[in-house]
Amino acid sequence: MKKILVTGCNGQLGRAIRKAYKQDEVTFVNTDVVEGEGVVALDITRIESVMELVLAEKPDVIINCAAHTNVDACEKEWDLAYQINAIGPRNLSIAANAVDAKMIHVSTDYVFEGNGTVPYTEFDEPNPVSAYGKTKLEGEKFVKEFAKKHFIFRTAWLYGDGKNFVKTMLRLSETYEQVNVVCDQLGTPTSAKELAKMIRYLESTENYGTFHATCEGDTNWAAFTEEIFRLTGKDTKVNHVTSEQYAQMNPASAKRPVFSILDNYMLKLTSDYRMADWHDALKEYLDEN
Ligand SMILES: NC(=O)c1ccc[n+]([C@@H]2O[C@H](COP(=O)([O-])OP(=O)(O)OC[C@H]3O[C@@H](n4cnc5c(N)ncnc54)[C@H](OP(=O)(O)O)[C@@H]3O)[C@@H](O)[C@H]2O)c1
Repeated sequence: MKKILVTGCNGQLGRAIRKAYKQDEVTFVNTDVVEGEGVVALDITRIESVMELVLAEKPDVIINCAAHTNVDACEKEWDLAYQINAIGPRNLSIAANAVDAKMIHVSTDYVFEGNGTVPYTEFDEPNPVSAYGKTKLEGEKFVKEFAKKHFIFRTAWLYGDGKNFVKTMLRLSETYEQVNVVCDQLGTPTSAKELAKMIRYLESTENYGTFHATCEGDTNWAAFTEEIFRLTGKDTKVNHVTSEQYAQMNPASAKRPVFSILDNYMLKLTSDYRMADWHDALKEYLDEN
């Protein structure tokens, strides 16, 4: 049976990955920074720990779901962000190569500067504007350098089982009659379930490389919030604010790309697999939660 080692298994994507496979299909080695029931402790920033576990388990596939995902905190924690977002995937890639495993890494739309006007493809040059984006890009480079059999999936605006934008908006709607949401940043909300399904599909192939992996369609954060409220029957008002106004209200927030719509171009060029439209994925998520 195929053995898959998952890092950051308690995060949104980590949880979705475990659900994306049938129980008798694979053996999982679930790992996260903190040990728990059925979860082995693995800090991906420690090369010795990573090598020891990977050499002992000899997985066929490593799926790296661990990351420092707090975009604002990364600005103040460059060292930690580099350790988790760049050194971590480097360590896992070195270990994957040592046992000839496939290395699956997840990256972000924030590797792009965001001043484009047409969706970014995998052939466009990244140029991140934040610590998060920069450290994630360095992680991608290490994966390409050290893991022979690698997949890099760039996703965006991820929500699943965990702390995320959808839940934050629903929580705010319990207390407030109005919420202020940025309306001039464009991207595509993507459910962790849809991403996990796509990873499961491509992971079983030899179709290696970098893939944009977002749901289909695009929106802005304010319109996304309106759709969340519409689908859940909330009458909370969404005040559309610009990034500039938001930055004045929240001076500690990191700079984010204005336009970060990704085109799943490599997926379209190399396979018949298509990801769901973001509206459908959001409806499914809200129905299930
Ligand atoms: N969330 C988004 O909107 C978004 C957008 C684009 C791309 N992505 C990418 O998608 C991937 C999955 O994101 P996600 O939202 O599922 O992340 P998440 O929910 O924040 O989960 C990340 C997991 O990694 C763990 N972790 C942190 N440091 C670690 C370390 N040193 N060693 C091992 N595990 C560690 C975290 O543990 P603790 O919670 O205990 O720290 C957490 O369980 C990431 O690569 C992320 O960069 C996410």
